[in-house]
Amino acid sequence: MNNKFSAFTRIVAFFLLVAAIVTVAVIAYGTIENYIENKAVIAVVMLAVVLFLSAVCTLIDYLRNRYTVKNRVDAILDATNAIAAGNFSVRLSTYHRLKYYDQFDYITENINKMAAELGRMEVVHTDFVSNLSHEIKTPLSVIQNYATALKNTSLDEKTRIEYTETLSDAAKRLTALVTNILKLNKLENQELTIEKETFNLSEALTEAVLSFEDPIERKKIELVCDISENVMLTSSPSYLEIVWNNLLSNAVKFTEPGGTITVTLKEIEKSVSVSVSDTGCGMNEETGRHIFDKFYQGDTSHATEGNGLGLALVKRVIDRIGGTICVESKLGVGTTFTVELQKDSEGKEHAGR
Ligand SMILES: Nc1ncnc2c1ncn2[C@@H]1O[C@H](COP(=O)(O)OP(=O)(O)OP(=O)(O)O)[C@@H](O)[C@H]1O
Ligand SMILES: [Mg+2]
Repeated sequence: MNNKFSAFTRIVAFFLLVAAIVTVAVIAYGTIENYIENKAVIAVVMLAVVLFLSAVCTLIDYLRNRYTVKNRVDAILDATNAIAAGNFSVRLSTYHRLKYYDQFDYITENINKMAAELGRMEVVHTDFVSNLSHEIKTPLSVIQNYATALKNTSLDEKTRIEYTETLSDAAKRLTALVTNILKLNKLENQELTIEKETFNLSEALTEAVLSFEDPIERKKIELVCDISENVMLTSSPSYLEIVWNNLLSNAVKFTEPGGTITVTLKEIEKSVSVSVSDTGCGMNEETGRHIFDKFYQGDTSHATEGNGLGLALVKRVIDRIGGTICVESKLGVGTTFTVELQKDSEGKEHAGR
């Protein structure tokens, strides 16, 4: 609408300009005719008048072009050059108010948005690299120190076994970290296609719970299962396994001995609802806001095991297969994670984050 309006304004302005030159030329001719009789001289004077008027109009058009087009194109060029060189703090100002935006103003806004997004991605990338380096460094320095200590030939057998176990634990932690990073990377790839099949969710969930039997028993935690039988679901059992394993591992990790973990599976019309509830330490609101961020751990001292990638993975899986996850938690009381999935959902196989 605006562009049509400004194109129309330009045509009218050009028309008025030509009309003004012709009118002034006609008036000038009428006036000169009274004073000069020689037609040749009149023609020369008229030519001078028309040339002068044309020069004035050309100057006006040059100035208009310079301030409304050239300066703006130059500013856009400088900004895009700076962005291409890696300076994402560049911002351009629009020329008109929002209501009167022309194409240059829209280009300007888009460049600002692109620069802001690139800046945000750069921060995310830098944070990711620094978090990852930190998470790699800790087990690596354990490996280095214990490997050096193991060189000491005077170590007794018990200490040697202890050191070897510590080495093996650190290597396992590194492997888990790399595996999770690779899974995250795969899930963030827009091209990923998640194969779906119809499977028995009750059995898959029971299997996942059983795989935690040992740690649950070791920690003397009570386990309550309220899993409806033969609930069928069309989704990706292998990706959902990531979800159940992470929710259960968190429940075990954050629940003190004597506590209870309750796993529930319910069918609600066309959807299924799985909840993993614990009577563990719970979390405060600040932690609750960040649990799905990569590398976020509520306990910043990193005293608890893990890298803060479990729930980031869970969230991405749920987003990709099309479902919801919500958390209710109270500090010192416990936490409940609830996952809801459509029984035969099409999902967002190619959806982004
Ligand atoms: N059941 C829970 N009870 C209390 N806090 C929890 C619970 N689940 C998650 N959290 C909080 O959310 C944080 C992020 O969880 P997440 O699973 O992503 O990482 P993690 O378990 O610390 O490490 P990883 O999963 O990589 O082993 C945890 O560090 C913890 O602070
Ligand atoms: Mg976890």
